[in-house]
Amino acid sequence: MRFAHRHLLGIEHLSQSDITAILDLAEKYVDLNRQSAKHSDVLAGLTQINMFFENSTRTQASFEIAGKRLGADVMNMAMQASSIKKGETLIDTAMTLNAMHPDLLVVRHPHSGAVDLLAQKVNCAVLNAGDGRHEHPTQALLDALTIRRAKGRLHRLNIAICGDVAHSRVARSNLILLGKMENRIRLIGPPTLVPSQFSEFGAEIYDDMNEGLQDVDVVMMLRLQKERMDGGFIPSEREYYHRYGLDVAKLALAKPDAIVMHPGPMNRGVEIDGTLADDINRSVIQEQVEMGVAVRMAAMELLARNLGEAA
Ligand code: NCD
Repeated sequence: MRFAHRHLLGIEHLSQSDITAILDLAEKYVDLNRQSAKHSDVLAGLTQINMFFENSTRTQASFEIAGKRLGADVMNMAMQASSIKKGETLIDTAMTLNAMHPDLLVVRHPHSGAVDLLAQKVNCAVLNAGDGRHEHPTQALLDALTIRRAKGRLHRLNIAICGDVAHSRVARSNLILLGKMENRIRLIGPPTLVPSQFSEFGAEIYDDMNEGLQDVDVVMMLRLQKERMDGGFIPSEREYYHRYGLDVAKLALAKPDAIVMHPGPMNRGVEIDGTLADDINRSVIQEQVEMGVAVRMAAMELLARNLGEAA
């Protein structure tokens, strides 16, 4: 099967079979990552540069580990100390790095669309590690792999995505991916955080957790993105937790075997009860992190196979 893409910029560009190809290859890397010797050489000789213009713990570490396990030479740019601070534009920085012949560029940026723009200016493969509120494709792919492994399938599931949908690239990429794979999606949150235009994605919208969580197979919680809010989106964190925070009582409305997900970082006691998040019988949050490395290895391998082709 051919993966006919030069870059991984968003789920919107992927077909069902592209998604399945990445997940199937990622399964192989889940197994490799559980061995004591975790090395492969599919990216040997290639240079991977990680450019994170926004803070990140798990995504950056995950891309770095993924590249190293595949034998790439991986460099993390310290963007806080870069020439961007001296006024250089994103594109100038990208062109400068491009002249050093990287093969894979992993980019996170606070502005929606910035990573797509950058991809037009360089001649290596670009992976979007999150751009503003737009897309975070590898997060949706790792979530999909986690769901597929837990539920045995990735179609015809009832999936609730809850909380700060408006500011979330994770929600957007998941909506697109889970929709393409023919699942039923519910978005649950206050109208300030779940604007009605999200129904365009084919999702049902609820502002009451007790209604929205009925009989779902998957409960995906989102972080309140306070850094992207510019005013009163919620009355108070206490009130928000009361109405929209996931706890054992609300989860009891979902199917008995429903899984709990969260992309991290979590605000414990704001969008999710900390004990529930740590309950390995319900929560797959740690598996999500594990699947993240495998999915990124798979995505980078597929893109590396196309390097040099004008796909
Ligand atoms: C998410 C992100 O950065 O979009 N985190 C992540 O990549 N694991 C979600 C978030 O910041 O809330």
